[in-house]
Amino acid sequence: MRRNLVVGNWKMNGSIANNAVVINQLKSRLHHLDAADFAVCLPYVYLFQAQHLLTGSNIAWGTQNISQFESGAYTSSISAAMLQDFKCKYAIIGHSERRTISHESNAKAAIRVTRAVNAGITPIYCVGETLREHESGIAKMIVEKQVLAICNLDRTTFERAKKVDLVIAYEPVWAIGTGRAATPQEAQEMHHLIRALIALKDEAFASKIRIIYGGSLTPQNVCSLLTMPDIDGSLVGRSALTADDFSKICEIANDTSLCLI
Ligand code: PGA
Repeated sequence: MRRNLVVGNWKMNGSIANNAVVINQLKSRLHHLDAADFAVCLPYVYLFQAQHLLTGSNIAWGTQNISQFESGAYTSSISAAMLQDFKCKYAIIGHSERRTISHESNAKAAIRVTRAVNAGITPIYCVGETLREHESGIAKMIVEKQVLAICNLDRTTFERAKKVDLVIAYEPVWAIGTGRAATPQEAQEMHHLIRALIALKDEAFASKIRIIYGGSLTPQNVCSLLTMPDIDGSLVGRSALTADDFSKICEIANDTSLCLI
């Protein structure tokens, strides 16, 4: 059985004062949930605060990217070793907003995955097709290429990725921040494909790997998506910004039988 994982992607939101409110509310609302895993991925500048507030809780923390370089003259970049300093558990890699804004390729994302796993950080590797790709019927081909970047990692790196329980997030770009989530059937079909691709490389890992869904997930549609067999949690944007919505999603992820009530 795979444990669900819910990760809040705060994107470029937050302030020291508001983070403290949200994080403290989340701590008190989630502390008794022990059947799923929870995390928030926040802007780098708040890592110190997150570490301070979340150490000892059942909520992990992480970042929204990681440098492809180890160290040196790379102005504004943040290395894996720096994330280790703040005990980050997760790093989102290849998010579509990064792929669009910085023209991030699958190959570059794969290097970032390598940096993360070498530092013992769990990558949340994002895949997903754009609206245009979706409408022209090539979504599966696009996602397959993105997943192959992981399958084609060298042997040592792939073993390390397994060891840190690499996560894949399927986030159709047309569903991100649009209020139009994928239907449970659409998402399930893609998650199933991703798992099948991983199985070609490593069957045992394919049954273990968590493939989480992202894109306009809300407390209202969480049940329909998280009860699909190949959906193991969610990467949540907008609904992660308030403790109310995020904790509702976490409660369902922790116990999907609540959906029957
Ligand atoms: P959204 O964002 O939940 O606001 O659609 C998800 C994401 O970009 O990770």
